[in-house]
Amino acid sequence: MRKRIAVIGAGLSGLVTVKELRGKGHQPVCYERALGLGGVFRFNEKDGVIWESCRLTSSGYLTAFSDFPVTPERATHMHASEYIKYLEEYCEQFGVLEYVQFGQSVTSVCRQEDGRWLVQSSGNAGDLEETFDAIAVCSGLHQNAHTPAFAGLESFTGETIHAAQYRRPSQVKDKKVLVVGAGESGADIAAEMSKNAAEAVLSLRRGVAVVSRTAFGKPRDYLTSRLMNSAAHWVFQTRNPKDNHQRTVYRYLGLPIVILDKMLQILYRQIWENTPMFGSGSLAEIKTNLRTRKLTMQLLAESGGTVNEQFGTKDDAFVCALAAGTLKRVGGIRRFEGRSVYFDDGTVFEPDLVIFCTGFETRMRFFEEPVATQERYLNTFSPILGASLAFIGFVRPAFGAIPPLAELQARWFALLLSGEVKLPSISEMNRSIESWAGHRRHIFRAKEDRLSHLVDHTEYCDLLADQVGCKPDSRQLKKESAAFRRRYLSGPFVAAQYRLTGPGAKPEIARKVIESMPLAHPWPDWVNLHLRWRLCQMLEWALGSKYAPKLSNRPEIKL
Ligand SMILES: Cc1cc2nc3c(=O)[nH]c(=O)nc-3n(C[C@H](O)[C@H](O)[C@H](O)COP(=O)(O)OP(=O)(O)OC[C@H]3O[C@@H](n4cnc5c(N)ncnc54)[C@H](O)[C@@H]3O)c2cc1C
Ligand SMILES: NC(=O)c1ccc[n+]([C@@H]2O[C@H](COP(=O)([O-])OP(=O)(O)OC[C@H]3O[C@@H](n4cnc5c(N)ncnc54)[C@H](OP(=O)(O)O)[C@@H]3O)[C@@H](O)[C@H]2O)c1
Repeated sequence: MRKRIAVIGAGLSGLVTVKELRGKGHQPVCYERALGLGGVFRFNEKDGVIWESCRLTSSGYLTAFSDFPVTPERATHMHASEYIKYLEEYCEQFGVLEYVQFGQSVTSVCRQEDGRWLVQSSGNAGDLEETFDAIAVCSGLHQNAHTPAFAGLESFTGETIHAAQYRRPSQVKDKKVLVVGAGESGADIAAEMSKNAAEAVLSLRRGVAVVSRTAFGKPRDYLTSRLMNSAAHWVFQTRNPKDNHQRTVYRYLGLPIVILDKMLQILYRQIWENTPMFGSGSLAEIKTNLRTRKLTMQLLAESGGTVNEQFGTKDDAFVCALAAGTLKRVGGIRRFEGRSVYFDDGTVFEPDLVIFCTGFETRMRFFEEPVATQERYLNTFSPILGASLAFIGFVRPAFGAIPPLAELQARWFALLLSGEVKLPSISEMNRSIESWAGHRRHIFRAKEDRLSHLVDHTEYCDLLADQVGCKPDSRQLKKESAAFRRRYLSGPFVAAQYRLTGPGAKPEIARKVIESMPLAHPWPDWVNLHLRWRLCQMLEWALGSKYAPKLSNRPEIKL
């Protein structure tokens, strides 16, 4: 049945939601408070979030929607303006913009007694009040700056801004700058400070998992293949002392592979640590590069987990700056006092400007509190309110990109509204929420105190795809050519995989995309990953499904 749906926000999540709703014949009305599309990626001097030089941290291949591939020149790390162009082309192709009202802010969303929703908005079209069958909240994870309440901050006499207010290097010329935090904002901005500020200092309360943006000359996320991100990988890589019985069994039974895996890791580490000796131009450069590698290891050790147990900061330029001495690292902030900032390691600094790169918080002022904060089934639906209220884009992959996740959520929402799929019972959804919370705390133990929306990219996509009915079928894949399967398993983890089969399948586009993917794993790595994959299949065959390291079994693990 055709439904009328309000979509809040025209960032990438809102746009893909409008497109998917239209695809199922629904009638979306998208409200966007800004005057243009793109959300976070829309550069805006006054109330934007990004800075002039901002490039995406995810590659074009991973960021692209499933049925609108990027052109080869956009395959690496696009500048934000280039990504906006991609979104504009997407909207043109699928006729999205005719359903968007720009300059219209949603002020209130209320559920009525008949189950429908009353939406109040104000802006260019005046004060509106309209009723809808369902709501898609696409108002973004990274719209509201988070600045922690540091002791004495109100007494600080210098200038303070959040990363979302930083625009360009001229803002910091001749200034002594303190950058707080090294998520991806902190990493990018600290590196820019090291080149442009009079003095640049970075405050970290703990270590951080840093990886370089590229590996083997290509974007690092080309390595996020199905093989690399498989359950098998997780079994071998997680080091949580509270690991459960099943994983211990895997490790013992897979001992030869664990040893091979370890040897390869040592080999890669040696190569990684020693390449600066050969590839660098001068002795000073060699020294800096060697120090960068040492510092990267030190930061990881201090972060409280392995690279797989937290989100990764995918830019090591700030570590190079630390190694070169153009950026100085200090401990966590103890207190502000007048012009001085005191740190846990006993140092004191008197900055002219403090840039808080301390992340974002989610606010949905248009809702009454309980609706906005209720736990959600697969991060998308409140079990109590069901399919008439979807939260799209409120997930963050530890490694990967948000658009493919938002797209699968949107496809699921559109199918639910058409009655083509159904949500499980309330008790089943509640059980899943509880089990996932424990599971997430376990696998992301280094960030368990923060970022409840962190997910494992491949695993989460597959779970959503299961709901949509578009998860690639392994029996069908066996019928494909060896060349296709190799690209499917070892190529970058592209969203097009979810257009091979099921509702909304576009196999021609999907095949073309998958077949054009580069194979980024060096061959010894590929052999190792393949062996691990096979081992997991053998374990399942020998020990039964309880021991199957399949993604779908993981939520059942009691932690
Ligand atoms: C600097 C930076 C770089 C990033 N780079 C990447 C990257 O490389 N890859 C990646 O996957 N992710 C990246 N991210 C994460 C990024 O935030 C998300 O991928 C993306 O913004 C998700 O899109 P969205 O539509 O869910 O949210 P947003 O982009 O935040 O869009 C939400 C929209 O909702 C509108 N809105 C909010 N409230 C209302 C209201 N009440 N009424 C009307 N409209 C409203 C906002 O104006 C906005 O346009 C980056 C984030 C930052 C901060
Ligand atoms: N170039 C790009 O593509 C790019 C650039 C920027 C951002 N992004 C994306 O934008 C999103 C947000 O990234 P972000 O870096 O802004 O935020 P973030 O990932 O949440 O990182 C916040 C940082 O602030 C620190 N922090 C938080 N609270 C703190 C406190 N109370 N005291 C001290 N330090 C504190 C965190 O330290 P702990 O680790 O100790 O918690 C972390 O280093 C991510 O999805 C990211 O991928 C992408």
